[in-house]
Amino acid sequence: MTTAAAEALARHSDGAAPRIGLVLGSGLGALAEEVEGAERHSFTVLPGFPVSSVSGHAGELVLGTLEGVRVALVSGRVHAYEGGGPAVMRPVIETLRDIGVSDLLLTNSAGSTREDWGPGTLVALSDHINFAGMNPLTGEETDARFLSMVDAYDPGLRARLGGVPEGVYAWFSGPSFETPAEIRAIRTLGADLVGMSTVPECILARFFGMRVAAVSVVTNLAAGMTGQALSHDETKQEAAKAQARFRALVKDFVRSFA
Ligand code: HPA
Repeated sequence: MTTAAAEALARHSDGAAPRIGLVLGSGLGALAEEVEGAERHSFTVLPGFPVSSVSGHAGELVLGTLEGVRVALVSGRVHAYEGGGPAVMRPVIETLRDIGVSDLLLTNSAGSTREDWGPGTLVALSDHINFAGMNPLTGEETDARFLSMVDAYDPGLRARLGGVPEGVYAWFSGPSFETPAEIRAIRTLGADLVGMSTVPECILARFFGMRVAAVSVVTNLAAGMTGQALSHDETKQEAAKAQARFRALVKDFVRSFA
């Protein structure tokens, strides 16, 4: 089946099909400016696409070329906590598959449960813990819903993110930040990172047959580790400070497909 959005894009787009999909996390959207020959499609004009409230402006699907590779770049992802639930990104992920994306890099800003991974640390995900307890495949009727999540973050794609450490990401629903007790709990359970996105998108992308990799930019030590309150302003500021290294890592990843 092809999404209505994919059909609309096929009518309006003259470029070659994208090879790689990139979902840019909070404060990490500037990479979209580097896409050459960019065709920009607001979520508001793509049928079925969700509209975000987080940053006050709608998401965008940008098609074009980065490092000589055809890419589909999503900036302004929508989170489950905005009201649409865990499957809110389903039309976006399904459309990426429909327009030709077979490899998807998810990115996010995250808190770190490890003292030695402070703000600015880039981490590739080796695995995740679905601590939010929601699943974007709830209600799916075929046996395809019994999706294996072994090697959900593809070892071959992870190898293209050389040079950064790997860690386990725990998904909390948000939008309130975690309590210090919750952070102690997930650290004990094996989580290195904590955030409010990426896990449902990984599940959806695997469901739609794509290979997935993910990168977190640590913007803060997690709740209770510094004695200070957490804030979204801090997330945005620290993500901005890490932009140059984040962009270099993502561009190296993309270039490996050239
Ligand atoms: N918790 C959840 N999400 C986040 C955090 C955090 O500490 N930092 C950035 N996104």
